[in-house]
Order: sequence, then C-alpha cells, then structure tokens
Amino acid sequence: MHPMLNIAIRAARKAGNHIAKCYETPDNVQITQKGTNDFVTNVDRESEHLIIDVIRKSYPDHTIITEESGELLGKDDDVQWVVDPLDGTTNFTKRLPHFAVSIAVRVKGRTEVAVVYDPMRNELFSSVRGQGSQLNGYRLRGADARELNGTIVATGFPFKQKQHSVVFMKIMSKMFDSCADFRRTGSAALDLCYVAAGRVDAYFEIGLKPWDFMGGELIMREAGGIMTDFVGNHNYLASGNIVAGSPRIVKDILTVMRDELSESLKR
Ligand code: IPD
Ligand code: CA
Ligand code: CA
Ligand code: CA
Repeated sequence: MHPMLNIAIRAARKAGNHIAKCYETPDNVQITQKGTNDFVTNVDRESEHLIIDVIRKSYPDHTIITEESGELLGKDDDVQWVVDPLDGTTNFTKRLPHFAVSIAVRVKGRTEVAVVYDPMRNELFSSVRGQGSQLNGYRLRGADARELNGTIVATGFPFKQKQHSVVFMKIMSKMFDSCADFRRTGSAALDLCYVAAGRVDAYFEIGLKPWDFMGGELIMREAGGIMTDFVGNHNYLASGNIVAGSPRIVKDILTVMRDELSESLKR
C-alpha cells in the first residue's frame, strides 16, 4: 500500500471513531458559530488534533492545511495534507448520522492520495492517483450517467452566501425539468464519493473550500468522473464552484447553467 495512504487511513479512522463516540454523548458537544449559520464544535477541533498528530508522527516536515487551524507550514511545502476533520458539522449537531472525515495529500499541486471516512456506516472511500478508487477495498466505477435526463443530482444550498440564492434556485428549477430528483445530504465529501459509487449521478455546489472537495475529487475522478467550475474551466480551487459527474452529465449541467449564471459565478 502507498505509505501516505496508510497514514491517511490511520488518521481518518482514529478521528472518525472519536466523532462516532462523541455522537453518542451529545451533552459533551459544545456548538458555536464561526459566522451566520456556520457551526463548529469541540469535536471538529478534537478530530483535527488527532489527525494532525498522526500525520506529524510519520511526516513531521509536511505542510498541513486544515479547516479549523488553517495552514501549518512544514519545511517541505511540496507535500500538503488537506484536511476536513468533520465534513457535515451541521448534520452532526442535529444528530443526523451523515458526516465524514476527509484527507487529501497533494504533491506539487496534484492530489496523489485521498481518504473519506464515514464513521457511522464504517465506509472508507480511498484512492491513489492512477490506481482507481475503492469503498472498503472494493473498486468503484460509478460516474457513468449518459445524460442529465432521469438522473439524481446532489447539491448543497449556498447557506453561507445567500446572495447567490436566487440564481441557485433558477438553476435548480431549470435542472428539475430534466433530472429525476435532487439530494442535499449535508456533506460535500460524501456527495463526491457517492458520485463515485453511483449512489447519485452528479453533484454541484457554490463556494466550497478546498478541504470540502479535495479528497472526494480524486475518488470521484478515479471512478471515471470529471470536475469543472460552472463554465467548464478548472478555476474551482479559487472559486469553490464545482460540477462533478460523468463527462456527459457535466456537459448537460453546464448547458443548463449557462444562461442563468451571474457574473461572479462565471469566474
Ligand atoms: C460543509 C458541508 C456541506 C456543504 C457546505 C460545507 P462542513 O462542510 O460539506 O455539505 O454544503 O458548503 O461547508 O462545514 O460541515 O465541514
Ligand atoms: Ca465547517
Ligand atoms: Ca466541509
Ligand atoms: Ca468541516
């Protein structure tokens, strides 16, 4: 096994198991807000510390970028671990059992290793670039929809950027003419893994952060999917606006979006 995958799995399992344990004792979970509608808990931070500890023990020089601690610059900035210690915090705070730990390892700007772990279902999604993606060791080949018509599309509402809500609803309304239905699961990392697994056919969201999608991106791509921003380019690291799925469904979604996008969503 790729040595960094081994460490990423160890870190994700350790953190995920801690989250699952805390889920059983909600009285010990302290919820605060980082901004309007943007929740964080002590468990997000504890999970993050566990992950950082595991990485640091094996790779003390690597850079670690996390949602809650920001960038922990190491001597070796060529290797970056991009960590979401708890993706789906809002679900966690409501005791809705759908959330995950996401860890991606980038080497010179390219993601080489990815792990997304759902501790409530004991589902471990993983990938090494060029070697496909797996769920609990079984190969995934999900992202294969031939068109938007009749498909299930996952998304997330732009709850932190409500200035986009009108455009978002217009896109949803137009897309609803052809797709079968939508899902809003509350975990971007799992949404991408679910595209990889064929549990949904495509996924799009406005304004994600790198830790939300970087792990799921590799897993989805290695299962045959592609990812672009809202105009078919690769500017999503900066914008956080992503469309993911098979090449054909992404093309159909971009066509639906084309006439609805505000200028800021085209960048
Ligand atoms: C959030 C989840 C959610 C998505 C939000 C993310 P967090 O991450 O992925 O599904 O809609 O945009 O911020 O804050 O729970 O790690
Ligand atoms: Ca968060
Ligand atoms: Ca997240
Ligand atoms: Ca998070």
